[in-house]
Amino acid sequence: MKIKRSIRFALALVAGLALLTWIASGLVQRTTRDWFERDVRLRAEAVVNGAQQALFSHWRKAESQDLRKLLVELTRDERIMAAAACGANLSALAFTPNFPREFSCRTIADHVRPAPDSPGSAWSAWHSVSSLPGGGIYVSAIPLLENERALGFVVLVHDLSFMERRETETRYFLLFTFGILALIAAAITLIAARLSWRGWSNELRRLLRGEVNERPEFNPILRDVRELYDRILEHEGGSWTPERLRHTLKRHLQGERIVIVANREPYIHAHGADGAIVVQHPASGLVTALEPVMRACSGVWIAHGSGPADRETVDKHGHIRVPPGDESYILRRIWLTKEEERGYYYGFANEGLWPLCHLAHARPIFRSEDWEYYRKINQRFADAVCEEVDSDDPIVLVQDYHFALVPRLIRERMPRATVITFWHIPWPNSENFGICPWRNEILEGMLGSSIIGFHTQSHCNNFIDAVDRYLESRIDREHNAIVQQGRRTLVRPYPISLEWPVHWIKDLPPVADCRAGIRAELGLAPDVLLGVGVDRLDYTKGVEERFLAVERLLDRHPEYRGRFTFVQIAAPSRVEIDRYRDLNENLVKAADRINDKFRKDGYRPIILLRAHHEPPAVFRYYRAADVCYVSSLHDGMNLVAKEFVAARDDERGVLVLSQFTGAARELTEALVVNPYDLDQASAALATALTMPLPEQHERMRAMRTFIAEFNVYRWAGRMLADAARIRERERLTGRLEGEHAADRARATR
Ligand code: G6P
Repeated sequence: MKIKRSIRFALALVAGLALLTWIASGLVQRTTRDWFERDVRLRAEAVVNGAQQALFSHWRKAESQDLRKLLVELTRDERIMAAAACGANLSALAFTPNFPREFSCRTIADHVRPAPDSPGSAWSAWHSVSSLPGGGIYVSAIPLLENERALGFVVLVHDLSFMERRETETRYFLLFTFGILALIAAAITLIAARLSWRGWSNELRRLLRGEVNERPEFNPILRDVRELYDRILEHEGGSWTPERLRHTLKRHLQGERIVIVANREPYIHAHGADGAIVVQHPASGLVTALEPVMRACSGVWIAHGSGPADRETVDKHGHIRVPPGDESYILRRIWLTKEEERGYYYGFANEGLWPLCHLAHARPIFRSEDWEYYRKINQRFADAVCEEVDSDDPIVLVQDYHFALVPRLIRERMPRATVITFWHIPWPNSENFGICPWRNEILEGMLGSSIIGFHTQSHCNNFIDAVDRYLESRIDREHNAIVQQGRRTLVRPYPISLEWPVHWIKDLPPVADCRAGIRAELGLAPDVLLGVGVDRLDYTKGVEERFLAVERLLDRHPEYRGRFTFVQIAAPSRVEIDRYRDLNENLVKAADRINDKFRKDGYRPIILLRAHHEPPAVFRYYRAADVCYVSSLHDGMNLVAKEFVAARDDERGVLVLSQFTGAARELTEALVVNPYDLDQASAALATALTMPLPEQHERMRAMRTFIAEFNVYRWAGRMLADAARIRERERLTGRLEGEHAADRARATR
């Protein structure tokens, strides 16, 4: 702003100086012209006076030849170009050869001799500027008086071109001098403005970063600048990084430490084959997304300690600093008995809420004993939150369907807490949700939150509809908010994403090596086309449908038999639940059946790897594949789709993506399919396998650009910025209420 103003000022300065130059050059021209004319006049009189005696003598003798010579002599002066001698009777006595015809003695005489009506008056000199085709001239007529008797007059014609030349030179000189001055003045203005702006903006930047103590003179604008800065970043994008997230936290939330409540822990400790303790990274979209956020923000992650060696690695408070080797935050482990885990996690969360929220045709099972465990464990986690916080208004991020009651439980103990709940799975329509016997308790529990986030707007709408249908509340549809018992909860979409770039690929071999390596390990020829699927073994992931699509592809395109193999990485999950065990068996059967159908010379189209794979191994598969098929029947987001894209820094490979994932709304350059429609899905696989490289590049580049911008730091940053706004408003409201209460107290005193 200031620089712009300086530029405007500099331009105005230049314009002003130009105008001044123009006026000055006019004045100078007029003055110099006056000087020149006076100079010429005096010179003319001096010339005639100097030659007076000679003129008298030739005049008297009427020797026109000699008079002419004398006149020629006078014109030796370089500025006198012609001369004439006129007698008192107005006859021309003599003139130089180039005397202009335009001037005759008779015409000039009228100006020199006295007017006929005033015979007493004397002859006087006359001077006038005139012009000839060759340029300006100055005509002087000087009377020749002998004893006050007029003999006649001498006419001298001066060349004025030298005067015009000088005027032009003077004007140029003036313009040049003023021009230089204007440039110097403008440059000085700009440099001065720039220097002062730089100093000023550096100071402001440091203030915004919180590197220096606030200075009172900046207070009025600091707030505005901060708001503007945030708005620009929010609306105009700009990349989100761990630093920017940290900075957002520091600026908006005074660097409060964040407490995350999530059932799944980011690091699981187990015993390796040799009995030594090993660290595992669980297969969980939630962990994939949140772990980088925690690394950036630090704080405490409260989770179920589910690993066999977890207890051996924590201190007496259940704390362990993670990530191993690069400790930046605390993992607080909560212990559950087998019964508690069965009731809360397997039972209510995964047999009740999970199928309730996913349209995957699995019937939810609701048992009141599971519900009791769910309540009990939610209370335990809420208590742990209260133990871990270091203020009475902490920021708590409650994650997922395992903890629907935690927000309210926290709110009861810490009314000033900012609770952000993120629901990582879909939210069903209100009719479907209504079958849950504890639907009201769940909704009320969640409404303890300050903000409830879902991946998509339609899940937000479903949630709001459910509240509208089952609870007494006020729905503020304009602001996507619910007001219940005077408390306001925002309901907003925050599509989750990945860290960018994904740190797992940093140490991986180039794509060509991954391709060759994986094919060799699987016993495949180097030129075999490879499809990949990566999932927790869950019925919502549509893995059976995926296998059937591969079968349909080979039925309809026999040319791919022997040339195309689909490798499915399937991490065992929730194995205590019958539905998951059935799925396991069904998948093995389906893979076997399809492999038998197309088996030939050792060829099997489906390779099912039912084991946990650490992230670097998974990313090697992504990089080795020609196509990745994500066929979820219903999925909040699905980060496998984004991981595949993130893994392909070679911008090759094709993503075939179920339309029933949140990711399909963002990764529109994928081949989006209905996984139930096997004809469509198999046709998409065929298209993927024959897609020309330029098209692969184009699609992959667009998706990578999207994820790079809409990464997980942005996801967390937006939620924290919204939370900051709520805190600010609550702080103001609180202050106002406090003032009103004080006023009332004073009034009653
Ligand atoms: C889904 C859920 C997460 C969960 C993950 C793994 O993504 O939304 O909350 O962590 O599945 O499931 P698990 O039951 O193994 O934690």
